[in-house]
Amino acid sequence: MGMTLLEQRAAEFAALSSDCDGGFWRIGAAMASLLAEVTDAELDGKSKDDIAQAVATAREACTRSPFFAYAQQWPRGYAGDFAIVEHIVAQRNDAQPGTFGWELKQHLMTGPMVQQHINKIVHQARLIQEALVGRGDEPVSILLIACGGAADLRRIQPQLMGRDVKVVLNDADAGALELAAQELAYLGDQLTVVHGNVMRSIDELSQHGPYDLVIAGGLYDYLPQRIASRLAGKVLTRLCKPGGLFYFSNVGEANPYRVMLEHLMNWPLIERTEADIDEIVAPHAEQVKEMHIGRDGTGLTLLVEIRKTL
Ligand SMILES: C[S@@+](CC[C@H](N)C(=O)[O-])C[C@H]1O[C@@H](n2cnc3c(N)ncnc32)[C@H](O)[C@@H]1O
Repeated sequence: MGMTLLEQRAAEFAALSSDCDGGFWRIGAAMASLLAEVTDAELDGKSKDDIAQAVATAREACTRSPFFAYAQQWPRGYAGDFAIVEHIVAQRNDAQPGTFGWELKQHLMTGPMVQQHINKIVHQARLIQEALVGRGDEPVSILLIACGGAADLRRIQPQLMGRDVKVVLNDADAGALELAAQELAYLGDQLTVVHGNVMRSIDELSQHGPYDLVIAGGLYDYLPQRIASRLAGKVLTRLCKPGGLFYFSNVGEANPYRVMLEHLMNWPLIERTEADIDEIVAPHAEQVKEMHIGRDGTGLTLLVEIRKTL
């Protein structure tokens, strides 16, 4: 039997990897043709395994980019770890300039998926700044859930210096907390770290609270609906101060880059609509004064802000 169109597109993309001068647009065009075919295969009801088998050559070619190789392999045991986020925020390209791997990474780095993450970090940093300003000279208490390397907090060092602020960091990955604590060492005893899955750390987190601001950036993309709602309830009832703010982000539904993330990077995300967010928050309506669901500048990611009742 001959090659399917999907296998053919994967082979065309992979062929560019052995030729150093594939060029930015040639690689981009081949990737677009391949991902259009993947989308059709999904619409035709092809299974994930069948598609993975058909695009195996393309996926292998992507490992010429150390970043794509890292994303595919999950070296820390889970997708979307803090090290990959650090890499995204730094906007580095660690491949050899002019190679297939370098051009492939350029596509990612100059594209909306990376931009949405940077937008998210900037938005989170702004929320922290607003919490500091909003409290005047009063002490401020901030909790970052699934903080990773705390890239958001690290952006606003000047505003944190000399401020009466208490920061609590949580992450399930001890490596993330180690990095964040090292970068934020200037906070001294104003900084506390709580290691563990947030769902099993609520008691400990509440002992250090309550908080004016609770941030969970880039976590809800990995939480099933039931857990996502349970966490929102715990945050609103046990962690937020009356009148405090709970923020989380979630990649929106119908993300056109999903096929690239899933099939070339092994990076599945749980996408959500505004209605899904309403469903997460609805059981805790008594705790909610107001909720705002915005989007980052790319339009790809939902930014959810929930103000707790007084
Ligand atoms: C994509 S990173 C997000 C980092 C950062 N908050 C940001 O906005 O860029 C996801 C982080 O969530 C952490 N994480 C995932 N599931 C978790 C859980 N159930 N409890 C605590 N941390 C979790 C991971 O260890 C990782 O550091």
